[in-house]
Amino acid sequence: MSNSTFYVTTPIYYVNDKPHIGHAYTTVLADVLARYHRAAGDDVWFLTGTDEHGQKVQKAAEKNGMTPIEQCDSTVVRFQELWKRLGITNDDFIRTTEERHWKIVQAIMQDLYDRDLIYKAEYKGYYCVACERFFTEKDLIDGKLCPDCQREVDTIVESNYFFRMSKYQDWLIQYITEHPDFIQPAFRANETLGFLRKPLEDLCISRPKSRLSWGIELPFDRDYVCYVWFDALINYISAIGYGVDQARFERYWTSCIHLIGKDILTTHSVYWPTMLHAIGLPMPKTIFAHGWWLTGSRKMSKSLGNVVNPMDMADKYGVDAFRYFLLAAMTPGNDASFTEEDFLQRFNTDLANDLGNLLSRVVKLSIKNFGGTLPAPPPLQPLEMELLSKAAMAVKQLENELNAMKLDRGINAVMNVVREANKFLERTAPWTLAKEGKTDRLAAVLYTAAQTLEIVSGLLFPIMPEKMTQLRRSLGLSEAEIVKTDFKSLSEFADPSATNRTMVDMPPLFPRIVVEKPEEAAPAKPEKQKKQEIKAPKTKDVVVPEGMVTIEQFFKTQLRTAKVLEAERIENKTRLLHLKVDLGNGDVRSLVAGIAQQYAPEDVIGKTIIVVANLMPAKIAGFESCGMLLAAKNETSLKLVTVDGGDAEPGLTVG
Ligand code: MSP
Repeated sequence: MSNSTFYVTTPIYYVNDKPHIGHAYTTVLADVLARYHRAAGDDVWFLTGTDEHGQKVQKAAEKNGMTPIEQCDSTVVRFQELWKRLGITNDDFIRTTEERHWKIVQAIMQDLYDRDLIYKAEYKGYYCVACERFFTEKDLIDGKLCPDCQREVDTIVESNYFFRMSKYQDWLIQYITEHPDFIQPAFRANETLGFLRKPLEDLCISRPKSRLSWGIELPFDRDYVCYVWFDALINYISAIGYGVDQARFERYWTSCIHLIGKDILTTHSVYWPTMLHAIGLPMPKTIFAHGWWLTGSRKMSKSLGNVVNPMDMADKYGVDAFRYFLLAAMTPGNDASFTEEDFLQRFNTDLANDLGNLLSRVVKLSIKNFGGTLPAPPPLQPLEMELLSKAAMAVKQLENELNAMKLDRGINAVMNVVREANKFLERTAPWTLAKEGKTDRLAAVLYTAAQTLEIVSGLLFPIMPEKMTQLRRSLGLSEAEIVKTDFKSLSEFADPSATNRTMVDMPPLFPRIVVEKPEEAAPAKPEKQKKQEIKAPKTKDVVVPEGMVTIEQFFKTQLRTAKVLEAERIENKTRLLHLKVDLGNGDVRSLVAGIAQQYAPEDVIGKTIIVVANLMPAKIAGFESCGMLLAAKNETSLKLVTVDGGDAEPGLTVG
């Protein structure tokens, strides 16, 4: 990846319903690509948004007893909240009801009309409401069913406006043939060329207001609104300043990669290029169509009740694990299956066993034997060099796979290095080296494994930004080093500064998820392992009255004693203090607490408090907050919960 411009888009999503896994997948994929390119120093622009006009939205509004714009306003937040929750780093979010968009759509329509590229004619067609598309008689299945969704179509005869799309058929065939990267994967380019073997017809781009009023008015005929696809596709250029900020538009446009699902290939690979060509604009770099998520082998659909809700997955298993699964389990381009069972299997194998275990072994052994700071290692032995060079190769492999849009293969190459590193520890047995007092060799082994983890976590950073931040913090990397994850720095693996770091222990990164089968009693497990597991919901859960929790549910919350080491006020935040707290065993964390109106920083330093240790970390006022302190409070007073006698060692379990 070289320093260049990278503009990535997702489809803009209809606001007739809440987001599902298909939306989440494309947006996470775009986010991960954007993050890799940003790390490489590229000039990145990442756009997503919502498609707010058309019949689907109008119908949803009617059904919900709202006006169309109320329907849009209430649904758009569900997308925006989901993107926030999933850590999506889009630079812009466009809504097609915004003035900056519809004005450009109108200007384009007027221009095409003035140049006779849009004309009026009598129209007889077959319309599929669900797909929002017109078909000709020969397109239909059995003369009456939509060729895409197989629903019955409506017959429509009316006057409408048409875009002279047919005029560009030969040009488009030639363009696709001469630009093999334009439509990807290659078999989708062939599919488009297949479609173009039949004569291309002109595109009906208007709807009479008498039939559909929710759309952008045609500037040259106020009795009509624009066809939703003609309006929607233009978002990709209106959002980056086409017609308004030419410099910005030119900076990004030709580097654009459109990520789409396979069902919207024709609109993107035929309608859109011909529209752009008629407007007089160059083509985007690539249109990449991914496959569909299926439930097992079945299509996801509301009527089958098998649609995966991404918010639920993130709440249940964590954002990063969900992001990881989406990208590791789907080969971009092909369909993939999503079942919770597959998810749990991959979570426990890749994340809990392989990656989590490697980290915990390296950190614990380094703390136990060297206080967390490894000494400069002696010259490395072949086994050690071999592991480091495998890690360096994975950097190259991931970079190549990413450029070829085969991210799942890149991830697999990285996880293979993790597995190799675990094998390396089995073979070199650092625990035995420690017992035998072979300190030099022990340092070399731990150094090698820590370096491998540093590379691997850097490579996985764009996919699991939160978890990899924690992992890299645990390795003792500074805040600046944590985010330095470009391929070039990661391949410079023999970094001697690693020995100046102090590793810190932390709770398991990915606690194993145990699926309890109520009918089988699970074999007894050692205490230590039990503590590190979280439980997936049972199939037959005990009914717990509302407002009550079971003892198991209560003990999922890990309460621990912690000593406040440092405290400071946060600029412009009168309620907040930023604390550094010690939870014992080298686990020192940053924590933000709303206690600044009751406690000055100097009042809390040295206090032993109680902290929820396994709370999902969050960013508050720009600081990482890894845990929550307990306080007794009402509207007027707040008092920290402390331990009897005021002092106790940090890290004690409370409960
Ligand atoms: N509004 C149009 C896109 C306009 S872009 C100028 C649209 N919206 S959509 O909300 O219906 O669909 C958005 C995307 O979700 C499409 O890319 C579609 O392929 C994708 N998916 C819908 N179900 C899916 C799966 N089950 N799996 C993966 N993606 C799927 O179409």
